[in-house]
Amino acid sequence: MQNGHVGNAIGGKLDDYFDQRELPMYKDKPYNYSTSGKAKPIYERWRLIGSVLLALFTVGYFLGFFSAGATRLKKTDGGKSTWSWGGKGLSTDWDARREKVKGVFIESWDGYQQYAWGHDIYHPLSKEGEQMSDEGKGMGWIIVDALDTLMIMNLTSRLSHAREWISTSLDYDQDINVNTFETTIRMMGGLLSAHYISNEYPMLAQLSDDDKGAPGEDLYLEKATDLADRLMGAFETDSGIPDASVNLRTSKGIVSHADAGASSTAEAASLQLEFKYLAYLTGEKNYWEKAEKVIEVIDNNGMEDGLLPIFVSPITGTFRGTNIRLGSRGDSYYEYLIKQYLQTAGEEPLYQEMWNQSLVGVRKHLITYSDPGHFTILAERPDGLDGKISPKMDHLVCFMPGTIALGVTGGVTIEEAKKAGKWGEKEESDMKLAIELTKTCWGMYKVMATGLAPEITHFKIKDPAHMESDGILASADITDKAKDEFVIKHNDNHNLQRPETVESLFYMWRITGNPMYREWGWEMFQSFIKYTKADADGGYTSLAHANEIPPILRDNMESFWLAETLKYFYLLFSPSDFLPLDSVVINTEAHIFPRFKLARDLHTGWERKTRDEAGHIVETPKTAPGRTIKVEESTTTILADEQRSKEGHIGLT
Ligand SMILES: *[C@@H]1O[C@H](CO)[C@@H](O)[C@H](O)[C@H]1NC(C)=O
Ligand SMILES: *[C@@H]1O[C@H](CO)[C@@H](O)[C@H](O)[C@H]1NC(C)=O
Repeated sequence: MQNGHVGNAIGGKLDDYFDQRELPMYKDKPYNYSTSGKAKPIYERWRLIGSVLLALFTVGYFLGFFSAGATRLKKTDGGKSTWSWGGKGLSTDWDARREKVKGVFIESWDGYQQYAWGHDIYHPLSKEGEQMSDEGKGMGWIIVDALDTLMIMNLTSRLSHAREWISTSLDYDQDINVNTFETTIRMMGGLLSAHYISNEYPMLAQLSDDDKGAPGEDLYLEKATDLADRLMGAFETDSGIPDASVNLRTSKGIVSHADAGASSTAEAASLQLEFKYLAYLTGEKNYWEKAEKVIEVIDNNGMEDGLLPIFVSPITGTFRGTNIRLGSRGDSYYEYLIKQYLQTAGEEPLYQEMWNQSLVGVRKHLITYSDPGHFTILAERPDGLDGKISPKMDHLVCFMPGTIALGVTGGVTIEEAKKAGKWGEKEESDMKLAIELTKTCWGMYKVMATGLAPEITHFKIKDPAHMESDGILASADITDKAKDEFVIKHNDNHNLQRPETVESLFYMWRITGNPMYREWGWEMFQSFIKYTKADADGGYTSLAHANEIPPILRDNMESFWLAETLKYFYLLFSPSDFLPLDSVVINTEAHIFPRFKLARDLHTGWERKTRDEAGHIVETPKTAPGRTIKVEESTTTILADEQRSKEGHIGLT
């Protein structure tokens, strides 16, 4: 089958990377020395130097030698200091830290493998597995979600086991109703990413049975296509907005029983990266068009300032309720706007236009500040844009700072963006927002007894709320006092091992080059090790109460612990040319896809309606909202004058 290689650029970079890894990087490997008695003094010495540097760094930070925004240390007053913190650090052994992440992944995986193999749900405390379906066959929920992490971490024998299970036991022909969105981002996303990584990085987790021409060579892609064909029925609605669920055997969409039949906005609008990549791989443009149509229907509502209520009707294609937020049910709609733009290598500017518009809306209506520390908050508007602001952030919102930074540079570093002349006031200001929001998300961890964030954080704010238009405020340092303004309600103090903050740390580190983000990540990771370990060999688990010590454990390991959280920690501590950010796009479940150019008959099949400053549609087009025919028609028009510059995480519990 056709497959989607991105070209040799990445391969070349990866070769360099592995060449580098062959070099004896003694300075960076104090832990290796510690095993040898003879070398111990050297290790001690390096550790001492490390501590001194860390202390200097900390002191420098608090004295304001460099702002949180600086990618490098600013020169000190003498002007002679030009320390670069972006390169190989003398002080910290990131390779060793990365290995620790791999170790935790192995413990988690092996617990699952031993006690719950083939099950969708794993309880690390009772050491039992459970299926999601009544049929009891299993969806591969954990195995498929973790596939590409196994590859990235080069866990060859475990990957063989997983692949064998997929090849012999995984069968999607089951009479079960599954969530359209979750199944797409985790299962289809996981399989597609495994397809991409195994083709693009064949030297990672090589499989001896994966000979060219042997049956099953395209196992991941075949499974993904089979699954996609079953999911496609969800799109067969009056409006084109997919139903919340779908039956895998019949491919019939199932209207949500809750929420008065409405689908979550984020769920409907976060299927596009997956279906579009599959269309690119298989040449089947049907996948592309169905997924793309959703965004057109949503956009045709002409919502003010690009901010959308969190429910949308599959029957009418219009919104339900007034609740606007970037947390659960809203989040990845916004994420997939900018990522769709990046996925097709900037060839579909209308998605960037939509993203830009939403970001302006976020700044205008949702950004406020805590009191008195002035931490930047991305708040909610439960009663619509004219209603009162609710100073609340789901942990899910913490995908946003990294995504803002990604939107600013497209994945390259700030330095590279500046060199390319792509830096102005807007970029500077968006990046500052990303930096401040990252700090708030980091604060959610710092204020907790375990150092692990709660599911939801409320903030103390001034009344009336201070908005950006009243003047952008800079935050204080996060100290013990911050606890007074980060308000954790009793029902919200659980931690589900969620990835969004480390995801943002990963993007912020790659893009700003400021090692502070890696240090924050290391601190978070250590809290996970310390407080979420199940016991002897069960692995790691989520917390029912993360704000007391010892924490109360909860008997469940989320599949995104393996698919996302540990993957982002691993990548945060990896060299930056490993999976370079400007050549991939990472889906909302941390599955990795290539960027590609529009090819064959894949193209943007719609055009935005004209709208006013506020985003309201000003012109009613002659064409009726009947869909499929119009798609074909507008397709050709758009291609003709494409010069015109045009252009959410999981609400899971
Ligand atoms: C991956 O691990 C295998 C051993 O299982 C090793 O031979 C190979 O060199 C490793 N590949 C990389 C890229 O590190
Ligand atoms: C969106 O904003 C970016 C800057 O962040 C700018 O470079 C780009 O031209 C804008 N795109 C559109 C379509 O407005």
